[in-house]
Amino acid sequence: MKAVTWHGRRDVRVEDVPDPILKEPTDAIVRITSSGLCGSDLHLYETLGPFMGEGDILGHEPMGIVEEVGANVGDLKVGDRVVMPFQICCGDCWMCNQGLYTQCETTQVREQGTGAALFGFSKLYGEVPGAQAEFLRVPQAQFMPIKVPEGPADERFLFLSDVLPTAWQSVEYADVPDGGTLLVLGLGPIGDMACRIGVQKGFRVIGVDLVPERLARVKSRGAEVIDLNAVDDVAEEVRSLTQGRGADSVIDAVGMEAHGSPVAEVGQRIFNMLPKKLTAPLMARVGLDRMSAIYTAIDAVRRGGTVSLIGVYGGQTDPMPIMTMFDKQIQLRMGQANVKRWVDDIMPLLTDDSDPLGVEQFATHQVPLSEAASAYDNFQKKQDGTIKVVFKP
Ligand SMILES: NC(=O)c1ccc[n+]([C@@H]2O[C@H](COP(=O)([O-])OP(=O)(O)OC[C@H]3O[C@@H](n4cnc5c(N)ncnc54)[C@H](O)[C@@H]3O)[C@@H](O)[C@H]2O)c1
Ligand SMILES: [Zn+2]
Ligand SMILES: [Zn+2]
Repeated sequence: MKAVTWHGRRDVRVEDVPDPILKEPTDAIVRITSSGLCGSDLHLYETLGPFMGEGDILGHEPMGIVEEVGANVGDLKVGDRVVMPFQICCGDCWMCNQGLYTQCETTQVREQGTGAALFGFSKLYGEVPGAQAEFLRVPQAQFMPIKVPEGPADERFLFLSDVLPTAWQSVEYADVPDGGTLLVLGLGPIGDMACRIGVQKGFRVIGVDLVPERLARVKSRGAEVIDLNAVDDVAEEVRSLTQGRGADSVIDAVGMEAHGSPVAEVGQRIFNMLPKKLTAPLMARVGLDRMSAIYTAIDAVRRGGTVSLIGVYGGQTDPMPIMTMFDKQIQLRMGQANVKRWVDDIMPLLTDDSDPLGVEQFATHQVPLSEAASAYDNFQKKQDGTIKVVFKP
């Protein structure tokens, strides 16, 4: 089959690789019909390279048709139309029973000290072959696949794999009070969707980014926006819009590819020139954080407010401003999204004909796998109006 594989910093290729096969009775093989490209893939493309293996298959936002099933997959059948969560989870352990699917004790990657295994997400998360491919082996298929109805286009349901539950969890964790103000930093797919959900829930939403078409898109959905390039100090601007207090709740939907820390970028390049066996342990220990967004979040939240961290950070070079966090009495929640925890909450918005979250038009680019290299490049550089890419294998 064809698959998108990792070969080095900013080097992804489409190659022929062996078709996946059933390995466990709880496996299924799914023929992929749509597969998203995510901001998290950009970490692998750039920052987390030391944890990748040459030829690793990328991708963790898949949907498709069940092609083959093991002996022990419950009621999953060949021909079912399914979306897979980006995390691999059993649905039956102590963590899964609390809805903490990203901490699944059956799939935790203990040798790396990380949570549940993820599709296509480096050695840190189990080096499980990813979903930007024609076929995908789905472990834990007795629980994982989300069955979706026939009829609407893939895009109606595809974003249940990651974007929707991630954005939904970020808003839940932001704990916005009734009538409150929600500030969303970063208007990539995740921040954009978090804004839409915030507006849908009736909050005052302010989105921040520096890419014109991302700002415009969020504005057209009913949020206010702040252009990072047009203000000296985002937090000051937010206070001026909120009676001097700051936002009740702030979502950091940027993560470690943040703009605004040139030192980290130079460090990153030096890091990438070192031999791999040196850099991976070094990076896990000291990291190479680009913390500008989280610092802005801590600055812009009001005293007693909540910061919801959904952007992904690696390493731990920069200490958090613990003194300020304590003094401001803020609440901080974070983590990978527990996808299946939120599916029942989100589904009514997807089966509503009026498509209140605008998911059908959410992707800006639908491309064949063969165009993966340029799609990654355009998405990283935010060129060609690229906000959300969906591969059509
Ligand atoms: N927690 C989870 O489960 C989960 C799931 C999916 C994605 N993520 C993470 O969410 C983050 C966003 O993902 P995405 O797909 O939207 O990616 P993205 O890279 O397209 O979005 C990031 C956006 O932040 C903007 N930005 C950069 N620096 C900024 C700054 N200092 N202030 C404000 N905006 C800034 C960029 O212009 C970009 O639009 C990534 O870190 C990704 O890894 C987390
Ligand atoms: Zn993703
Ligand atoms: Zn589990």
